[in-house]
Amino acid sequence: MDLFDKLKELHEQGLEEIKKATDEQTLNKVRVELVGRKGELTKILHSMRDVAPENRREVGQKVNELRDLFNKQLDATKAEIVKAVLVKKLEDEKIDVTLPGCEGHLGSKHPINVILDDLESYFIGMGYKVVQGPEIETDHYCFEMMNLPKDHPARDMQATFYIDSEDLLRTQTSGDQARVLEKHDFSKSPLKMVGPGKVYRRDDDDATHSHQFMQMEGLVVDKNVTMSDLKGTLEMIAKHVFGQDRATRLRPSYFPFTEPSVEMDVSCFNCDGKGCPICKYTGWIEVLGAGMVHPNVLENAGIDSTVYGGFAFGLGLDRFAILKYGIDDIRDFYTNDVRFLKQFRKEEN
Ligand code: PHE
Repeated sequence: MDLFDKLKELHEQGLEEIKKATDEQTLNKVRVELVGRKGELTKILHSMRDVAPENRREVGQKVNELRDLFNKQLDATKAEIVKAVLVKKLEDEKIDVTLPGCEGHLGSKHPINVILDDLESYFIGMGYKVVQGPEIETDHYCFEMMNLPKDHPARDMQATFYIDSEDLLRTQTSGDQARVLEKHDFSKSPLKMVGPGKVYRRDDDDATHSHQFMQMEGLVVDKNVTMSDLKGTLEMIAKHVFGQDRATRLRPSYFPFTEPSVEMDVSCFNCDGKGCPICKYTGWIEVLGAGMVHPNVLENAGIDSTVYGGFAFGLGLDRFAILKYGIDDIRDFYTNDVRFLKQFRKEEN
């Protein structure tokens, strides 16, 4: 075939190839084939020696023209491809602002945590430290150290979720007392602590009982701690949680780890002491157990009970929340129905 025909054919074919390329990769291949160092145009230049001398100039010129044309066309097509890719990307990523949005659900503190956090900072403000004992407690700390030896009748109502003969899900946070007493260095400072946490009992679940609930243990030990210190502290807690105008009273009670022992009632916030279903028409609501630390508890922890003494209290956080917020079923705390939980958002601070 004559070289001029070949150039003509390459001209048409080349433009066709360029036109057909719709992505950059294919276009690059076409560029190499047409104008690359080993491409079609270079091949023609190499075969120049077969061309009659008088035609060489014209062939050379045509080759150059064709190279320019191809390059121009290749660049233009490349620009088109780049633009098309961008347009598609923008199209794909288009956001429809008229679609309905996704509501961000805001969580809130559990009502028991609202009470817990509030009490913790209240006690910290009075110089107490906050400790946390293990939920799987040993018989040793939960009972023996707390003056409840193995055959003690007061164990009956508590001895319950044993894991083996020595370990159990703790029935009270009182074990925290023993753990802290054992370690405390009284030559450095008096001891003031609260220990909040979950406890477990054999209670049948009903509106006011749950096999799992939250307690907060309190313990103060120093020289010369008196029962009026206990009374003053309990009164402050009651007024802080239930309101300044609440009256309180102490009734004698029994706990193996305190002597004397008391239970505290607050005047009913609902009827102000007149009598109503909430206070079972007594005008009073029982809120916690307390007492002066039994000397045996101190001696068990290696503390001289003739020098040191103190008071302890244990309050039920669920009970506090029930009374404070007028909740009629303790199980609402643990079923985690958001309709129930949402109501306490305003109590957070
Ligand atoms: N541990 C007692 C209970 O669970 C409460 C309590 C704690 C009483 C500390 C007196 C002192 O019932």
